[in-house]
Parts: sequence; C-alpha cells; structure tokens
Amino acid sequence: MAEANVEYRLMTVDDIPLVQLVERKCFTTPWSRSIFVSELTRNDNAIYAVALVGERIVGYAGVWIILDEGHITNIGVDPSFQRQGIGQGLMDMITKLAVERGAVAMTLEVRVSNFSAQALYTKLGFVPRGIRKEYYQDDKEDALIMWRELGEEWTNTGN
Ligand SMILES: CC(C)(COP(=O)(O)OP(=O)(O)OC[C@H]1O[C@@H](n2cnc3c(N)ncnc32)[C@H](O)[C@@H]1OP(=O)(O)O)[C@@H](O)C(=O)NCCC(=O)NCCS
Repeated sequence: MAEANVEYRLMTVDDIPLVQLVERKCFTTPWSRSIFVSELTRNDNAIYAVALVGERIVGYAGVWIILDEGHITNIGVDPSFQRQGIGQGLMDMITKLAVERGAVAMTLEVRVSNFSAQALYTKLGFVPRGIRKEYYQDDKEDALIMWRELGEEWTNTGN
C-alpha cells in the first residue's frame, strides 16, 4: 500500500472517541474511555500521541516517564494503516517527548506471541531482558520485557 501522508501530535480528550475506534480494532481487551481520560487529565507522568491521516486518527501511543525511564503503555495502529511506518513514527515521537522529560532508556512489555510488535521494537533497538509470567490478566499469557538504551543521538541533541 502507498505510504499515507501522516501527521503526529499530542492526544487530547477530544480525540478519545476516535482513539477508541482504533483501540477496539487492535486489542481484545481495549481500554475504557475512563482510562484514557484519567491518563490524559490526572497522570502528570503520562504522554500520549496520535497519528492522523487527514482528520482520521489512525494510531496512538503512550509512555509514562518514571524517573529517567520511559515505560511504553500502549501502541496501536488501525489495521488498514499498518506496515506504512506509522507505528515507527509514533514510537519516534513519544521517544523524543520522553527524552525531553529526562528519559535515557525505554522499556515495555509485549505478549510473547505478538511477533509483529516485537519486530517493530527490535527494529528500533529494543532487546529482550526477561519474562513476566502470566502478565496479561485476560488469558494469563507471559510478557516479554524489552529495553532500549537511548544513545547519544537521542540524549545529546536537545531533541
Ligand atoms: C505493532 C504495531 C503497532 C505496528 O504498527 P505498524 O504501523 O504496522 O508498524 P510500522 O509500519 O511502523 O513497522 C515498522 C517495522 O516494524 C516491523 N513490523 C511491523 N509489523 C510487522 C509485521 N506484521 N510483521 C513483521 N514485521 C513487522 C517491520 O520491521 C517494519 O518495518 P518494514 O515495514 O520496513 O519491514 C501494529 O501492528 C499494531 O497496532 N498491532 C496491534 C496492537 C499491538 O499489538 N500493539 C502492541 C502492544 S505491545
């Protein structure tokens, strides 16, 4: 599929209904509206970004800044827009924002069976660092823990 013209910006409360449309297509146990509202309005450590094609929200990603680490909370791209670089674009944006808030490394959990997400993270330099047994409450699947140390290209540029 041809690459779409994609814009990236911070998520707002007004975006939540469209973000939830993406969320429901991506996950079997999607986040509720109240979780998104709480993340955007009551969690000072959270940063969320959306990807837009025209007016349409086609993806989103979030990170919590905990001390000098960025913890990816979630990322999803509408299946109709996957494999066009949007997941990578979202990861780049939230990594840049995390670095601005002092992050020197990024970490995340991913289902051991989720090979497409693992492929994205591996491409970006994340490496496996362990397993959290039965991490996912719905089906008790294990999570792979991945880490990415952010090199000088991130931390010395002031980006
Ligand atoms: C994981 C996800 C966010 C990737 O989004 P995306 O926009 O399709 O990813 P990109 O197009 O930016 O892919 C970048 C690279 O990641 C890798 N990749 C992504 N999806 C892949 C797949 N299905 N198979 C193999 N490699 C894949 C490739 O290396 C790709 O580069 P390439 O297209 O040049 O080969 C998307 O598949 C998704 O929303 N999945 C459902 C929700 C989910 O599992 N989220 C992660 C929870 S931890």
